[in-house]
Amino acid sequence: MLLSLKLLILPALAAAVPHIVFNDQTNPGEPLIDVKVPVQLGVMSKCPDALLCEATFNGVLEKVKDKVDLSLIYIAKFNSSEPDFRLSCMHGAEECAGNVQQLCVAKYSTRDQWWNFIQCQNFEGREKIGRPDVALKCAGVAQIDWETSGAGQCAGLDGDGKGSEGVSLLHNSVRLGQHLEITKSCTVLINERKVCVHDGTWKECENGHTVSDFVRQINDEYDKLNSGEDFLPFA
Ligand SMILES: *[C@@H]1O[C@H](CO)[C@@H](O)[C@H](O)[C@H]1NC(C)=O
Repeated sequence: MLLSLKLLILPALAAAVPHIVFNDQTNPGEPLIDVKVPVQLGVMSKCPDALLCEATFNGVLEKVKDKVDLSLIYIAKFNSSEPDFRLSCMHGAEECAGNVQQLCVAKYSTRDQWWNFIQCQNFEGREKIGRPDVALKCAGVAQIDWETSGAGQCAGLDGDGKGSEGVSLLHNSVRLGQHLEITKSCTVLINERKVCVHDGTWKECENGHTVSDFVRQINDEYDKLNSGEDFLPFA
């Protein structure tokens, strides 16, 4: 009876809450529901603090890859006088382009490909992030087919980051950042709570700022989200 009730209720919950992924029930020892911890980094693609955060989270992902739903939120200012992006990006228009390239790759490739694309751009050097040739090269490194995957169509087939779909993804991202009151690159949010900032140096990191500090916080949050108490009143 309980099981059949769950079978009715869980799919409805899954549809309502996008972070929930259901395990198949062939492994009875596994938790029935696997809720990933949302982790968001507020960044600007050419910002040194962003590169540092992304390097740190490379280490975090190695430890808790399967427990997190990682995304980047871009910081910029709406400015109708800016011709290509209608945004002012702190490190120039090329940064807006870099943001768009990353968002399009996030949308049209796997998470590993997206993350490898960003690490490749960062490895090329901060000054070159946003350049079309670097975007195309890094797509190759991450094994993303720029022309057919949708990423190129989204960001601009020549890699310029000015594709209309990509620019609108960037607008939505900037709006989300404003809504969450993210003003500094890099800001770390775990389950939509600001836990740390790197702005020249680590600041406001009540629970620490090392890889293992973030891993611990993510593990704790994962356990809370998957304890069943928060959202399964019928189970
Ligand atoms: C808006 O964009 C214009 C054109 O690039 C620039 O001159 C101006 O400083 C920008 N305004 C702000 C507030 O960033």
